[in-house]
Amino acid sequence: MMKDVEKTEKLNRISIKTTPPGPLAKKIIEDDQKYLVTSTKSLPIVAERGDGVFIQDVDGNVYLDLSTGISVTNLGHLNPHVTEAVEKQLHRLWHFAGTDFYYKEQVDAAKAIAGVAPGKFGKKVFFTNSGTESNEAAIKVVKAHTKKQQFIGFIGGFHGRSQGSLSFTASRSIHHKGFFPSMPGVEHVPFPNPYRNPFGIDGYENPDELENRVMDFIEKFVIRTYLPKENLAGFLVEPIQGEGGYIVPPKNFHKKLMKLADENDAVVIMDEVQTGMGRTGKFFASEHFGVEPQVISLAKAIANGIPMGAVVVKDTLDFPEAGLHSNTFGGNLLASAAAVAVVETIKSEKLLDNAAKQGAYFKKRLLELQDKYEKIGDVRGIGLMLALDFVKDRKTREPDTKFRDRLEMESLKNGIILLSTGLSAIRLIPALNITADQIDMAVDALDKSIEASF
Ligand SMILES: Cc1ncc(COP(=O)(O)O)c(C=O)c1O
Repeated sequence: MMKDVEKTEKLNRISIKTTPPGPLAKKIIEDDQKYLVTSTKSLPIVAERGDGVFIQDVDGNVYLDLSTGISVTNLGHLNPHVTEAVEKQLHRLWHFAGTDFYYKEQVDAAKAIAGVAPGKFGKKVFFTNSGTESNEAAIKVVKAHTKKQQFIGFIGGFHGRSQGSLSFTASRSIHHKGFFPSMPGVEHVPFPNPYRNPFGIDGYENPDELENRVMDFIEKFVIRTYLPKENLAGFLVEPIQGEGGYIVPPKNFHKKLMKLADENDAVVIMDEVQTGMGRTGKFFASEHFGVEPQVISLAKAIANGIPMGAVVVKDTLDFPEAGLHSNTFGGNLLASAAAVAVVETIKSEKLLDNAAKQGAYFKKRLLELQDKYEKIGDVRGIGLMLALDFVKDRKTREPDTKFRDRLEMESLKNGIILLSTGLSAIRLIPALNITADQIDMAVDALDKSIEASF
């Protein structure tokens, strides 16, 4: 199997031979619909193999991947360093219940991740298998530490779909449809979305006013009137909202939130599941906001596609006794080996610098598209966590969801893989080692796709 893959030619350019979905793709989609439970599938692309920023489908079409499997393969598909680390581990040991027994690989992974997490304090790690499971663990850590049970989450936030994390998720109503009640004790407040918020403030022009309005809302309309500080365990927040539309809050928001949490003996859980592991040009997006969270949730890119999640906690927040929390697969050896390789490769290949540099270049090219198309209301994001928001009217900022959905489909025909986010945005989240030439290739295809979507 390995030999076959090695013999296959490198993927290095877009090539669309059959309009997707081609005949082989159609057959697999048909079977998928028959044998797999309905979930969130949106695009008819059936992948066969990957190579760096490229994906080849079963009909031989080659796409430039601007989705990285929802910000997971941040180091590119089949990254050679991660492949080598996993291959080595594959011949030694796969699984040995890392929560019940001991092995070095899990300790190495914890050291590597804690070593790059913000905060000049001791840190401990609990490994999970997904983002939602990381948030479940984070909620329990905070309940155990504060001995309080209620939380505040943010409208537009996404934290997962299991019962605890779902109670915070507020990016689309469908996530809750028919599932009430999830975990009780979570109140939602507005997120300081600079582009569209319930206060009617332009947060790009008046960032302080927007931040203060949200803080006032939390203090005066929530804590003062019905959620006493004696009950408030913490906040769960994304540094930059992901599924909510790639919303970057004003720069002092997180500092203000951490201060408010401190004053109320509450803890901020920073959900870096989508923003973490170099996506924004720093290991963690929190670093852009000058904050050092005591609890950080991670998953997605942490092992470049081997399923893994983690919660990094300040050591003083460790569970006070054994048995309060655990799992079976956490810290799996293959995932641990991959996680160490991910951190080392981000450092050795200077991928944070590349994400910052190429992110700035990509954004410049997107702003040129915005000059060309009135349809693009907003270009936003940091590093290689970028988005375009499509509007019916630039002044009213009314979302154009239908246009965005058409564009997602058109883009496949032009050989780029896009993922939607929020009401009317598409995200652009390529691998962190993307080159300027590949960005130009992507922007050309995007330009053609926008043109074809009117
Ligand atoms: C910020 C954030 N938190 C949590 C999750 C849930 O992660 P998972 O799908 O691995 O459970 C996601 C997934 O998109 C996410 O973006």
